[in-house]
Amino acid sequence: MTDALRTAAIDILKINDRGQYTVPTKGLYPFQWNWDSCLTALGQCHFDEARAWTEIETLFGHQWPCGMVPHIIFHQMDDGYFPGPLVWGTNRPVPTSGITQPAVAGFALKRLFDRAQDQAAATARVRALLPKVAAWHRWFYATRDPQGEGLVAILHPWEAGRDNSVDWDDPFARVPTEGIAPYTRRDTLHADPSHRPTKEQYDRYLWLVEHFRSLDWDTSKMHDASPFQVVDPGFNAILIRSCADLADLAAQVGDDALADENRRYAARGLAAMESLWSDGHGQYLCRDRITGQLIDSPSVGGILAAFCAIPPERAARIAATIDGHGTRYTVASHPPQDARFDAKRYWRGPVWLVVNYMIADGLARAGQGRTAARISADSLELIHKGGFAEYYDPMTGEALGGGQFTWTAAMVLEFLAHDS
Ligand code: GLC
Repeated sequence: MTDALRTAAIDILKINDRGQYTVPTKGLYPFQWNWDSCLTALGQCHFDEARAWTEIETLFGHQWPCGMVPHIIFHQMDDGYFPGPLVWGTNRPVPTSGITQPAVAGFALKRLFDRAQDQAAATARVRALLPKVAAWHRWFYATRDPQGEGLVAILHPWEAGRDNSVDWDDPFARVPTEGIAPYTRRDTLHADPSHRPTKEQYDRYLWLVEHFRSLDWDTSKMHDASPFQVVDPGFNAILIRSCADLADLAAQVGDDALADENRRYAARGLAAMESLWSDGHGQYLCRDRITGQLIDSPSVGGILAAFCAIPPERAARIAATIDGHGTRYTVASHPPQDARFDAKRYWRGPVWLVVNYMIADGLARAGQGRTAARISADSLELIHKGGFAEYYDPMTGEALGGGQFTWTAAMVLEFLAHDS
């Protein structure tokens, strides 16, 4: 059974492979996505180490001069996706979006390096990628943390990768819906509209895109000009973990300056993360940087915080919070106890394997092996039941969204490798 699953996962990674990059799934997402690619590389390294490095190298080949790494690279035109390159209007040699995504590259790089069979090749590839990833981290703290508090803000829900999370409902209400150009969505042609974000949310997503485009995508101006600035614990945890991992990697290949710089970011971020802790919810919460208040929404971003080196007692509470969800399959992207929970709507309830993987990894490191093992077992059971879907109903296990999904397949290879 395990062998069959492994073969099926590898097949999906190959079907979606476009040579130098992998699409998340054909139809719904026909380009290269940032954090999808970094996590996909972890799956690829189980059967083709060289190809795994290429996946990340291609992504960083489209890094902006300011250091930002965009969330989508539009390698080839495809009318099946909206908003496409013309809407973004970023004026890049190969068109890209103008916002970023969770910075998981540092973590992925370290993992690839540690596992590499071909150490000489891995060292050469790490040496070339290291300054690029470090420039991205530097860009984050310079442009998304202008007051130097140690935590960065996202300026668009798509940056968090949790597009329609309940976390954004309140701060998003501040984003206007009027004045945007007429548009036709494409996502609802590929997936059930009742499982996708609403029209009102889409209007606001586009308002922000048009607003940033009117600033000529000057990333040094976007933070202060944005009506949406949210400090997401999950997003920060991924960045902090990547800074810590990049620091270790830099030290391993003898770049002490980059190691020191990234160690500083990680230490400062970890200390500041404590300001997001909620004892009442037993997890971290987002902060709305415009109002300065914590957002009363216990979504999975505050659980994903366990991916970085939070204090062990916090990790233990988070493990208990996951148990407290009482869902058949862990980890729901929003708890069923909350009235806003929606078992089938994208990031408002469903389980996502990439998030499961990072939570399980963090909890295992923090000594919460039992919960980590349950998350891993639940994840594999979902695949046995419903195949390699985009996301799953946490109650019934129903497979939802796109099928033959790349990063889901990559995470299966990871869970299987840890299992054996
Ligand atoms: C959706 C997800 C995002 C992901 C993208 C491609 O927009 O919310 O996290 O990167 O699809 O899979």
